[in-house]
Amino acid sequence: MSLPTLSTDASIQFDQEHIWHPYTSMINPSPVYMVTEAKGVYITLADGRQLIDGMASWWSVIHGYQHPRLNDAAKKQLDQFSHVMFGGLTHQPAIDLARRLVDITPEGLDRVFFADSGSVSVEVAIKMAIQYQQAKGQLEKHRLISLRCGYHGDTFAAMSVCDPVTGMHQLFQGTLKQQIFLPAPVTPWQEAICEEDLTALENTFTAHHHEVAALILEPVVQAPVECVFIQLITYVMSADSVINMMYC
Ligand SMILES: Cc1ncc(COP(=O)(O)O)c(C=O)c1O
Repeated sequence: MSLPTLSTDASIQFDQEHIWHPYTSMINPSPVYMVTEAKGVYITLADGRQLIDGMASWWSVIHGYQHPRLNDAAKKQLDQFSHVMFGGLTHQPAIDLARRLVDITPEGLDRVFFADSGSVSVEVAIKMAIQYQQAKGQLEKHRLISLRCGYHGDTFAAMSVCDPVTGMHQLFQGTLKQQIFLPAPVTPWQEAICEEDLTALENTFTAHHHEVAALILEPVVQAPVECVFIQLITYVMSADSVINMMYC
């Protein structure tokens, strides 16, 4: 049985009473605006106003809304099949994407695991790192090193490596795995690592190397790959069988 159509105002009212939007209070919801269309960088609201979406829907629409190539590919795919499980089955679009990823990533990164969101990919990467240590018989290596000021997503393991102050650790105290945090690096790009970063790195690895499975960081925001800090981290970790999980 279909539901009666609501006016825009009544729909918004329903939304405020029944839909919990990300990063808002359920009992005291922030206002929301009804979108009727989005094209290029513009979002059109039900009252006719147009917004420029400066954050590309949380970076998920970086090529703009209704990009003709993406729309065509999605429509073509829908006419063949919208989705099939990946257990025991495969398909050409997945293989084509994996071939491209293997082609553009450095030598040695030649296996692809698909996940459906940033948070889930962080969960998967953490599981892989721990599984790797277990396979080597190093059961005590199950904690992660992360950098302060980082953001890695909102699922549980991802949250545990987010910044402890801005990352909602307080709310989930006692539930989140206790990870090890390095201060956010202060060494400027392409400069020799400063004393402060070096000391923090040395102290952290000296104290925790025996229990660390991997280090996670966002190189684009927290330190470019060319940064000496990253090079040093990679060196220290390879000496101690710690996996380097960098992603963008
Ligand atoms: C660096 C980084 N990691 C992980 C995530 C989580 O991704 P998602 O929102 O797709 O779960 C984000 C999202 O903004 C991110 O910026």
